[in-house]
Amino acid sequence: MPNNKLNDLDSKTWLKFQKSWFIHNPPPRKKGVLVHPAKFPETMAQDFIEFFTKKNQIVLDPMAGTGSTLIAALRAGRNSYGIELNPKYAEIAEQIIKDERSALGKQVKALKSRIINGDALKAVNYKLPTVDYVLTSPPYWDMLHAKGAETQKKRRTSADMDVFYSDDPKDLGNIHDYEKFLEMLVEIYAGLKPLLRERAYLTIIVKNIKKGGKIYPLAWDLARELSNVYTLKDEKLWLQDNQPLAPFGLGSAWVSNTFHHYCLQFRNDPEN
Ligand SMILES: C[S@@+](CC[C@H](N)C(=O)[O-])C[C@H]1O[C@@H](n2cnc3c(N)ncnc32)[C@H](O)[C@@H]1O
Repeated sequence: MPNNKLNDLDSKTWLKFQKSWFIHNPPPRKKGVLVHPAKFPETMAQDFIEFFTKKNQIVLDPMAGTGSTLIAALRAGRNSYGIELNPKYAEIAEQIIKDERSALGKQVKALKSRIINGDALKAVNYKLPTVDYVLTSPPYWDMLHAKGAETQKKRRTSADMDVFYSDDPKDLGNIHDYEKFLEMLVEIYAGLKPLLRERAYLTIIVKNIKKGGKIYPLAWDLARELSNVYTLKDEKLWLQDNQPLAPFGLGSAWVSNTFHHYCLQFRNDPEN
């Protein structure tokens, strides 16, 4: 497309991505990253990166986990930076990136991929360059600590899989007060503004949360609060269609099986 300022896509691929929902069933995880309780698929991250950046631009994930965003960036021919609080995940990310770099060979030699073991709240202190796109997903409040969580059952009995991210009080997944958690999360994302190029996009993948029979609309609250800092441009729904259904509330009450995430799209507009 001539005059395409945003990405390197042809018009057909551009249009396809503009649908407000998509189904992406994560492929089975590689052994090395199973330890992490909640990663998003690199294949999905790559679609976002290829829409919101051009080749050789810079992508940041301030809560990088085991580095899915950085792997996707490499495959897409983009530079990338990641911040991750837990040293164990940061180390796994580094190793995976190293392996991916050798698998991709010469074509990625000039690209940077850097993991910083640190606190996203201090992102401006890590001497990062101006970035062209942020793709990230936060801890879904303190839900990994929830005793009844179906997805956690297998993890509790396995020595190789973490149930929650860490015991670190700086880990947002350890803040039990919802309002405090939301406030910290907004502070972290707002703190990225000086690092983000003007008109660059920020995609946050997040869910509304069910706890104690109540919904905490994290995705909606975050969209509202953060729109004081960035322009809220849109939402895109990530649907998973390969999960077993659990009989929550069967015969007595409406309790859905939540198999969708919100991919919230913000833009760093100067007028905001
Ligand atoms: C949903 S996971 C991100 C997973 C990542 N997208 C991936 O695919 O591997 C959230 C991550 O945020 C990290 N985290 C929590 N608090 C943090 C903080 N204050 N600074 C940086 N990372 C933090 C957790 O350790 C966890 O790995």
